[in-house]
This record gives sequence, C-alpha cells and structure tokens, in this order.
Amino acid sequence: MDDTRSKLTKYGIRLHDRSDFEGMHRAGRVAAEILDEIAAQVVPGASTADLDRQITDMVAAKGATSATIGYKGYQHASCISVNHVVCHGIPGDKKLKDGDILNIDVTVIVDGWFGDTSRMFVAGKLPRKAERLIEVTHDALMTGIEAVRPGNTFGDIGHAIQSFVEAQRMSVVRDFCGHGLGRVFHAPPNVLHYGRAGTGPVLEEGMFFTIEPMVNLGRPETKVLADDWTAVTRDKSLSAQFEHSVGVTANGAEIFTLSPGGLFHPTYAG
Ligand code: MF3
Ligand code: CO
Ligand code: CO
Repeated sequence: MDDTRSKLTKYGIRLHDRSDFEGMHRAGRVAAEILDEIAAQVVPGASTADLDRQITDMVAAKGATSATIGYKGYQHASCISVNHVVCHGIPGDKKLKDGDILNIDVTVIVDGWFGDTSRMFVAGKLPRKAERLIEVTHDALMTGIEAVRPGNTFGDIGHAIQSFVEAQRMSVVRDFCGHGLGRVFHAPPNVLHYGRAGTGPVLEEGMFFTIEPMVNLGRPETKVLADDWTAVTRDKSLSAQFEHSVGVTANGAEIFTLSPGGLFHPTYAG
C-alpha cells in the first residue's frame, strides 16, 4: 500500500496526494473507454448478458480487473439496469427491445485503483419521455460536480442535485448513494444525492468519491427484487442514472471517468 503519505479526516475520508490522482485517472479512463466501446452493441435484440460478456472481455483486454465479479457474491463485470430498474440490474438472457433505455455501470481496478462509472444508453429509437429523463439525470450529475470544491460540504452536492431534479418535477432516489473510493471500492462518506446546503462533512482537496444520482419519472421509492440485487421503482416508472468518479482539487473537481470519445452525454440523433 502506498497510502503512507495520505491521511484520514475525522469522518474517515482519505485525503490523497498528486500521484494518487494519476492512478485514478488511469483507472477511470479504462472504465470510460469500456462504456465508449460497448455503445455500438446496445441494439434491439442484444441481451444484457451478451453486453456483459463483451465487457468482461474488454476488461481483460485492457489488463484491468473487474471490481464487481466476486464482490459480495456478484458474478458479472457490469450492472445493466433497463427501464424501471433503478440500479444493480443483473445481466441476463432477456433481449433489449426498441425504445428500451438502460444504464450500464462498470467498475475496474487498474494498478490497485478503482474506476467506477455509468451512463445511459438506448436500444433503437429513444422515446420522448425517456429523453427528458436522461437529459435531466445527466445534468443533475454535472450540477452536483459543479458543487465540488474545498470548503463546500457534501450536503451542498446533494442539495444541488435534489433541487435541480425536483424543479423538473422528477424525483431523486434516496435508497442508494455515491461513495468514497480510491484503493477501495466503497469507502466513507456516503454521498447523498439529496440534502440541505451546508450540512455534512466539508470537502477537502484530495478526497476521491463517486456521484451517481438515480432519477425517477415517478415517485422516489424503490424495492429490491428476490434476487437480492435488482432495485426497481415501486411505481414502475422509468429511472435513469449517471455516475462519475471525481477527485477534489485546490479549486474544484477533476473527473476521472470522462469519456475519451466524448460519448458520456447522450446525444441521440433520433
Ligand atoms: N458500480 C456500483 C456502484 O456504483 C456498484 C456495483 S456493486 C455490484 O457503486 F456488485 F452490484 F456490482
Ligand atoms: Co459507484
Ligand atoms: Co458504479
């Protein structure tokens, strides 16, 4: 472990140094490249298990390790959450249909560093109501990232996301949150996507964490299916999610999981 120079805050949040940022950029880039490369395969008729097999191969081809295979018994290199699935959808044999929207979430380990990112895709033609949901969810993530700077609090991030989403008359999922990461997958703090400005731990340079808001067209409540993973909206409304891994710099944020191909924001020709 090369954590000798880094330290923990009173909330148990690790502060990383400059060389650690380089490690996170390498890991984040691999995860983002995989999402770029899978994009062309997201078509009606493909199964989510097909997509996951290709992702598994890409992880290996890049010399990385999947963080999710073997994590708490999970057996896949990705989570693929279709339509009203909020998160942690398990890849399976069901085929995508025209107009399905899906989140693909990939976490890789490169030289011990974790890169965790997800974004939305569509099979075939994007339905109008899903387009707005995806747009709002993407912009909610970026609005949260804009609140990342030393001296702001984690509550400022959550408040920025929640107020933005609710102004669009959509809802923020409360049951899942972002998380610290670095040389570990999930570390303090819990990064809530709702909350009050000025509350929670103060952000400091060198903190690494994810922001990964889930937004529903209907109500925010979720339930986990009998497989113990798949989380769905209770009211069956559509749900979307975007996730970046970020680091706090002296005056803002660095995003580790930017799309090398510029594909993160869904720009659908329609
Ligand atoms: N990548 C997810 C996250 O954003 C975690 C997936 S854990 C799994 O934190 F086991 F479901 F893959
Ligand atoms: Co995450
Ligand atoms: Co993730």
